[in-house]
Amino acid sequence: MSTHVQSQPPFFRPSWMEVDLDAIAANLHQVRAGLGVVQLCAVVKADAYGLGAVEVARWLERQGVHRFAVVTLDEAVELRRAGIRGAILNMGAIGPQQAAVVLDHQLEQMVFQTPLVEALEAAAAARDVHAKIHFKIDTGMSRYGVPWRDAVEAARQFSRFPHLDVLGAMTHFPMSDGLDKSFALLQIHRFKSIRAALRQQGVEIPLWHMCNSGAVLDLPQAHLDMVRVGLMLYGYYPSGDVRRPHDLQPAARVVTRVTALRTIQRGDTVGYGRRFLAEQEERIAVLPIGYADGYDRKLRNIGEVLIQGKRATLAGGLCMDACFVRVTHLPDIAIGDAVTLMGCDGAEEISPHDIARKIDSVSYEVLARWGRRLPRVYRCGGEVVTVRNELADRETVC
Ligand SMILES: Cc1ncc(COP(=O)(O)O)c(C=O)c1O
Repeated sequence: MSTHVQSQPPFFRPSWMEVDLDAIAANLHQVRAGLGVVQLCAVVKADAYGLGAVEVARWLERQGVHRFAVVTLDEAVELRRAGIRGAILNMGAIGPQQAAVVLDHQLEQMVFQTPLVEALEAAAAARDVHAKIHFKIDTGMSRYGVPWRDAVEAARQFSRFPHLDVLGAMTHFPMSDGLDKSFALLQIHRFKSIRAALRQQGVEIPLWHMCNSGAVLDLPQAHLDMVRVGLMLYGYYPSGDVRRPHDLQPAARVVTRVTALRTIQRGDTVGYGRRFLAEQEERIAVLPIGYADGYDRKLRNIGEVLIQGKRATLAGGLCMDACFVRVTHLPDIAIGDAVTLMGCDGAEEISPHDIARKIDSVSYEVLARWGRRLPRVYRCGGEVVTVRNELADRETVC
């Protein structure tokens, strides 16, 4: 990936996120190769973890992905309106009054509460169509789902509704990417026991699915009929404890440009709260990106960036729209130089994990928090193919 957006991009602020579509395709093909006949559902919730749900889903659909997962109806409708034709599974909870939206947009809906199931049945019956549902079983996350002890009976009931297709049965791991897999193994046992009991009673559900990235890597016995993969498609392993069979390519890079350079003297301070005190003459670069863009304030004085392929450390606290970097050791820096906050520059990389470690967070949060003020610049074959600038409310195809 080159350092610069070559032609004048359709945005003015010199801070943006680059998304490497080739990397996403390469990650998809590697993950898929390890799955055999198991289906893959691409998790593109939360704007594809910040990379841009519409652009990512469109690209994945071109790569042959047929099912996408989101967690709100608005996310699902956004994809439909953008022309996504594949199946869209809303994994989030909705109220019975929203049943019609599921049918209007031919969505698949996660269900576990009877009022919603009844509302979907009534809405589907009124239109003389079938609503597609995925029955959620809580095997230990205590978030959504029928508790596993009651799941067989609930699945039997839900499968009797004439206008509902129980297309899937799903559960979720709270800890598939840790070293200790004992709880995950218990969950697999619970889920498979429910499947066996239902089969014995003649209740066939076509798609049993429970795996996220961590489980795809480490728990092949849980792949079942389908897996739901997010983070790995974007080029990151979910933790340092999982197997690493793939050469995942980081797909996101957050870039800004030096907007001011100043030399400060011993005793001078930098930024709000005067958190950096110069003990000698220092060179400070000002970057036009701050905590309102998703760059965490806890990175003060410890965050790192890449300039000219070399590391530099944040100086002082972050502002809402700017931050400071100590560049005393990089004498050739000039205004306008590209600075990588997350991603690769030359041989160096600052991964979402690196940032997460410093702010006591996880890579998921680091990725998903990059804000809408950062235009998304999509590259394919080294060329910019699309730019999304939400502030200008437009999409420009270059
Ligand atoms: C229910 C569910 N399934 C699958 C995933 C995908 O997880 P990952 O990004 O680790 O692949 C998520 C993400 O958190 C999720 O909430």
